[in-house]
Amino acid sequence: MDHFDYRDGALFAEDVALNAIADAVGTPVYVYSTATIERHVRVFREAVAGAGNGDPLIAFAVKANPNRAVLATLARAGLGADVVSAGELMRARAAGVPADRIVFSGVGKTAAEMALALREGIGQFNLESEPEAEMLSQVAVGLGLTAPVAFRINPNVEAGTHAKISTGGSEDKFGVAYDRAMAAYDLARSLPGLNVRGIAVHIGSQLTDLAPSRAAFLRIGGLIASLRAAGHAIVSADLGGGLGVPYDPSLPVPPSPAAYGEMVREVTAGWDVRLVFEPGRLIVGNAGVLLTRVIRVKPGVTYPFVIVDAAMNDLLRPSLYDAWHDVRAVEPSGERFTAHIVGPICESGDTFAKGREMDRVHSGDTVGFMTAGAYGATMASTYNSRALTPEVMVSGDKWAVVRERQPLEALIAADSLPPWLDEETA
Ligand code: LLP
Repeated sequence: MDHFDYRDGALFAEDVALNAIADAVGTPVYVYSTATIERHVRVFREAVAGAGNGDPLIAFAVKANPNRAVLATLARAGLGADVVSAGELMRARAAGVPADRIVFSGVGKTAAEMALALREGIGQFNLESEPEAEMLSQVAVGLGLTAPVAFRINPNVEAGTHAKISTGGSEDKFGVAYDRAMAAYDLARSLPGLNVRGIAVHIGSQLTDLAPSRAAFLRIGGLIASLRAAGHAIVSADLGGGLGVPYDPSLPVPPSPAAYGEMVREVTAGWDVRLVFEPGRLIVGNAGVLLTRVIRVKPGVTYPFVIVDAAMNDLLRPSLYDAWHDVRAVEPSGERFTAHIVGPICESGDTFAKGREMDRVHSGDTVGFMTAGAYGATMASTYNSRALTPEVMVSGDKWAVVRERQPLEALIAADSLPPWLDEETA
């Protein structure tokens, strides 16, 4: 459920008319709803309450939406953070996430990133290989510190989602292969800079069926028992993120957080661990909309092209994953038509939807791409020398710009000339 609703024929975010934001800030612009974010935190928290041996840690996957205002909203609600880079770690800390609620994931942590995280005192490193364990131990010893670690295990389970966001198959780059797990834990135990305390798994994103997660968690449960039998103290189990959200209203609704929580409770009963969750999309997906204006409607052979001022550089998901985002006119006339929705970028991949039945729109109308709060602004680029999209946060009847539109001058000034091309120094 979200807080984007029509009132007297105009789309609102909570108590703010989206057209008022489009007029004031210009388009394209991302708009986030605080109430929606807070609601999703509450729903997920209730769904997993009491699972494991007490108070689970919910570590928001920062990659889904790293805006500092979003992170600060989540930090205030008591969430931790799952980070995958120095930048995400610094953003989470700047937003007020306590270090001990931070989990560091990712296959390619560098020594510099490890050192930063160790100095910050983060809660856990999720290691993805033996060489990574060796490097982290060395960095920790060098700093006179001990790193709390878990191994992310690759359970070799097909997640049943888009191939580009499946992570739990044996040929995917993620995690330690299930059959190598015992050897990896034995190695880590011998390394002086590590304190091995947990296990982790994450099989993919936008999961719309609980069965693959259940299968993966069952394998993890089996491993916990074998590891303990071999003398490894496993006190935490990180079950990753991945639960899907509804995008296309014509498809079945993905399993609810409550159903997910029930499955987790059933599978993890008796594990005697603190559970960690890393939801991203579920927390922020429905909480964002990308507002864009129609530049013009161009006649086509089969359908007209609705050319909007947002493009694949602002919202990459349709182009990269053929993802569906619902499109709504902010002030619909009541008429409908079928159209292709495209951006101004010079490749055919810059298409948001093909042959979509939608509100009939005209030049100058504002439309919203819905469910754009996760993996939207964060995946934006400046392709075609288009400025990064600004972001706005709404709370009740208040709103604020939480990321300014990047001036084109700044975009251009970021490059510099080598001395042999620079007329001033040549
Ligand atoms: N934990 C780990 C280790 C992850 O790699 C991810 C996402 C998450 C948690 C959060 O997953 P979520 O709950 O958001 O599904 N750009 C793609 C999604 C990539 C997901 C990458 N990893 C998209 O736009 O669909």
